Amino acid sequence: MDFSLKHNAPEKSASACLIITVSQPRKLSASGQSVDKACKGYLREVLKNGDMEGKTGQTLMLPAVPGVTAQRILLVGIGKDSEMNEGVYIRVVNAVASALAASGARDAEVFPADIKLKGRDTAWKVRQAALLLANSEYRFEQCKSGKKQPPLKLRKAHFNVDRKQAAAAKTALDEAAAISAGMSLTRDLGNLPANVCTPSYLASQAKQLAKGEKRLRVTVLGEPEMKKLKMGSLLSVSAGSRQPARLIVFEYRGAKASEAPIALVGKGVTFDTGGISLKPGLAMDEMKFDMCGAASVFGTIKAVNQMQLPINVVGVVPATENMPGGLATRPGDIVTSMSGQTIEILNTDAEGRLILCDALTYAGKYKPRCVIDIATLTGAVIVALGKVPSGVMGNDRKLIDDLVGCGQQIYDRIWELPLWDDYQDQLKSNFADMANIGGRDAGTITAACFLSRFTKDYKWAHLDIAGTAWKSGEEKGATGRPVPLLTQYILNQVKR
Ligand code: BES
Ligand code: MN
Ligand code: ZN
Repeated sequence: MDFSLKHNAPEKSASACLIITVSQPRKLSASGQSVDKACKGYLREVLKNGDMEGKTGQTLMLPAVPGVTAQRILLVGIGKDSEMNEGVYIRVVNAVASALAASGARDAEVFPADIKLKGRDTAWKVRQAALLLANSEYRFEQCKSGKKQPPLKLRKAHFNVDRKQAAAAKTALDEAAAISAGMSLTRDLGNLPANVCTPSYLASQAKQLAKGEKRLRVTVLGEPEMKKLKMGSLLSVSAGSRQPARLIVFEYRGAKASEAPIALVGKGVTFDTGGISLKPGLAMDEMKFDMCGAASVFGTIKAVNQMQLPINVVGVVPATENMPGGLATRPGDIVTSMSGQTIEILNTDAEGRLILCDALTYAGKYKPRCVIDIATLTGAVIVALGKVPSGVMGNDRKLIDDLVGCGQQIYDRIWELPLWDDYQDQLKSNFADMANIGGRDAGTITAACFLSRFTKDYKWAHLDIAGTAWKSGEEKGATGRPVPLLTQYILNQVKR
């Protein structure tokens, strides 16, 4: 979808659809009032007749309204003005997106200034709406042979803003376009089945992403190279699979080489059967999404590259399957990680941390200013937080606070769990430096405790996205989270 800015009077708009908001009870927005004048009270009449209360998300399409140049007007309810907040705003935009999808309109014009949202400026409203509209257009039909859904008729969204806001709104649109392009890539990679999206496939897609891009370099390590680096923990996970593991490394250079990079490390388990500690069958297909952390690194790198941000970013993606083959790791096996620390693998289904620990050690060689890992790491995070926020833990107060703030800023929210030393004891092993599981209690925190033993040399935060990376049920599919959060963090780090 294309985006543009407009500054015309609403009643003079040549757009195919004007979006006019109505708040409760039956109150027309400022643009709505101008339009109403031009059509001699037609909108008021509609409201008076009881067809539009203004309830949040309620929509009413009015074709060929007399006196206005636009082909149609979409009335959308935004609830009570006093109850407007970010969540309501998002519901309103999503309602607009579905009403537009059901209509024949090829373009639409919105008036962000009509919605008063405390603490959020025009640029925020523009960016958020553009992001939601672009996301609503997403389809995944690569694997369907038959008739595909007709593409969306809507090609363009115009944002009508005050001229004084034009520069900020333009930046907002560019950011939204980059973030949504990144999210699309993340969603595609997540949605692809594991027989297509293997570790080698991810590696080839990474190379594809860097092709012809001056600032982006991709290096792929195979198993022999990982053996040389002594990544015994990562290799213990791929041992049970016929698909060889890959370590994919992105280097985006937008600033001087001397500037320390931000490092992103994403869990790339292309399918998680659990290994010898085999998972139960129910919904196991969803374990194709176990590479969504990796996919979010791809998507964020894509967004950063699209914006050509003046900053250095490194992405490290350990990619492997977790399968129960004849050479698979057994419960009780002890492996040596790249850091030299030994691990007793008590459960082969706790494989994410086993590949991340070596990738985190590897990331250290870049002397990064901070490292953020992203992983569909524990089912326990869904028990703790549900599917609303991602979980965050780490070893640096400011980094965590900044990330939580970014999550609020772009509405891709995260919530902190306590990474206290008290939990470390749960990882004690009689035979090795540590076990790879910490028992039933606080599974998300003990997973982070495990990672914390490999991240002592730098500022580090861990995002557990098991609850947020994809949706189950009727809307099954990858969400593209936390690409908005990660991109926002990087944007905020760019010195402007
Ligand atoms: N990929 C899973 C985590 C997961 C499970 C995400 C269900 C989303 C839904 C991870 O590798 C895993 O299996 N974790 C185990 C850890 C346990 C063995 C300590 C889990 O959460 O059960
Ligand atoms: Mn697992
Ligand atoms: Zn897993």
